[in-house]
Amino acid sequence: MRRITEHPILEFPERKVITFYFEGKPLTAYEGDTVASALISNGIQAFRESIELHRPRGMFCAIGNCSSCLMVVNGVPNVRTCVTPVEEGMTVERQLNRGVMP
Ligand code: FES
Repeated sequence: MRRITEHPILEFPERKVITFYFEGKPLTAYEGDTVASALISNGIQAFRESIELHRPRGMFCAIGNCSSCLMVVNGVPNVRTCVTPVEEGMTVERQLNRGVMP
């Protein structure tokens, strides 16, 4: 996982490790992570593609005010993953317009 583990000011208390599924692949996250932070910590940064030019989109505002992080979560499209907590067994998929994202 890509995580900051040490910091001169902040402390990182131990949290429960959970498993969720990104496009069928099991990944781990910490309880309390958002879906977006869990994906980024697993090296996944492309969450959807832009509507017109089909360019990859990922985390942008990180506060639920844009549409850059929309994904399909548990079969529901248009979920803002930057403000949605990840849960045990959750399924997450990229939101594609024509299914050609790398
Ligand atoms: S990154 Fe802007 S709403 Fe999630």
